Amino acid sequence: MPALKVPKREAESVKRKLKKMDLYDGKRRPKREGDFVLLPIIEDEKIYSLGYEVLPVELPLRPERQIYKNLESVLAGRLSEDELKHLRRYDVIGDIAIIQIPLELEHRVDDIVWGLRKVHPFLKVIARKGFHEGAFRIRDYSIIWGEERLETVHRENGVEIKVDLSKVFFNPRMKGERYRLAQLIKDGERVLIPFAGVLPYALVIARYKKVKITAVELNRDAYELGLKNIERNRKRLKGEIEFIHGDAFEVLPKLESYDRVISPTPRGIDALALTLSKAEHWLHYYDFVHEDEIWTFRQRIIHECEKLGRECSVRVKKVSDFKPRVFKVCADVELKEK
Ligand SMILES: C[S@@+](CC[C@H](N)C(=O)[O-])C[C@H]1O[C@@H](n2cnc3c(N)ncnc32)[C@H](O)[C@@H]1O
Repeated sequence: MPALKVPKREAESVKRKLKKMDLYDGKRRPKREGDFVLLPIIEDEKIYSLGYEVLPVELPLRPERQIYKNLESVLAGRLSEDELKHLRRYDVIGDIAIIQIPLELEHRVDDIVWGLRKVHPFLKVIARKGFHEGAFRIRDYSIIWGEERLETVHRENGVEIKVDLSKVFFNPRMKGERYRLAQLIKDGERVLIPFAGVLPYALVIARYKKVKITAVELNRDAYELGLKNIERNRKRLKGEIEFIHGDAFEVLPKLESYDRVISPTPRGIDALALTLSKAEHWLHYYDFVHEDEIWTFRQRIIHECEKLGRECSVRVKKVSDFKPRVFKVCADVELKEK
C-alpha cells in the first residue's frame, strides 16, 4: 500500500479529504518524517490528482491489525494458504479471546487455539463467537478452551471495565471511538448516553474530562455491572456519572436536554428523533448504513433537525466494517444556535 507525502501543517486537512474520498487506509498508521507526514492511502488513480508525492512505502499496521497478522504468521506452518484466507479477525477482551471460526476451518479448531495461546500467553478462555441476539445485543458464545467463564476485566483508555459476555454487550473495537469522543468533549459539559451498556463510553469520557454524564441502560445485568464499574474506577475519574436503569424511550422524554448526546444505538432501533430532541449542541449517533445510503442517512438527520426547528451540520464517519459495503457509522451532528 502506498503513502502520500504531505507537509506536516497540511496533514490533518489532507487526511480529512482522503477520508471523504474513501482513499485513506485506516488500517495503517501515519508516520512523521521531518517536516512531512506520510499518510497511508489506498491504491487508486484518483490519488494522483491531489498533487502530492506518492511513495511506495508499507506503513505499519495499527496494533489490532498487527495482532491479527501475528496469529496468521504463527499459523502459517500449520494451515494451508487457502485455509489461512478463511481466518477471521478476533478480539481479546481481558483474558478472553473471541474468534469466529467459519465452516472451512472447523477441522482446525485445535490449531487456532494453539496459535492464539502462542500469540497471547496470558489467555485463560478462548470462545467461539456467534451472533448478537435480541434488544440487549448479547452474543452467543461457546467456550472452546480454558476456564468455563465469560466474565473478565478489560482494560482500555486508562479504565477497567468488568464485563460478563454471557449477559451483556461489549465491543472492544470501539476503543478508538471512545477516545475520540473523550478528546472532543470539553470540561464542564453535560453529556447524555442512552444505550450505555456496562458504561465503556461514560467511563472513558469521565476519566479524561470533568463532565456530568447521565447514562441510561435497560439490561439489568449491564446496569449492575456498570454501577460496579463506576466504583471500580472511582479514583481515576475526573467526571461524575449518574446511571439510570430503564428504557431509553421512556426515560429520555422525562429528562432535560444536554450539551451533548452520544447514542451507541442498538442495531435495528431507530432512536434518531429521540436522541436529537435531547441534544443542545452535539449528537453523535451510531448506526449501520450501506455505503450507497450514506447520503440518504445524512439527509434524514438534516430533515429530523428541521422538524425540531434546528439547523445542523452533519459529518458521517465510517467506524468499522459490518458486512460487505455496510458500515457501522457515527454521524457527528452539530446543532446551530437557536
Ligand atoms: C450496541 S449496545 C451498546 C452498549 C455500550 N454503549 C457499549 O458500547 O458497549 C446497545 C445497548 O443498548 C441497550 N438497550 C437496548 N434497548 C434499550 C432501550 N430501549 N433502552 C435502554 N437501553 C437499551 C442494550 O442492552 C445494550 O447494552
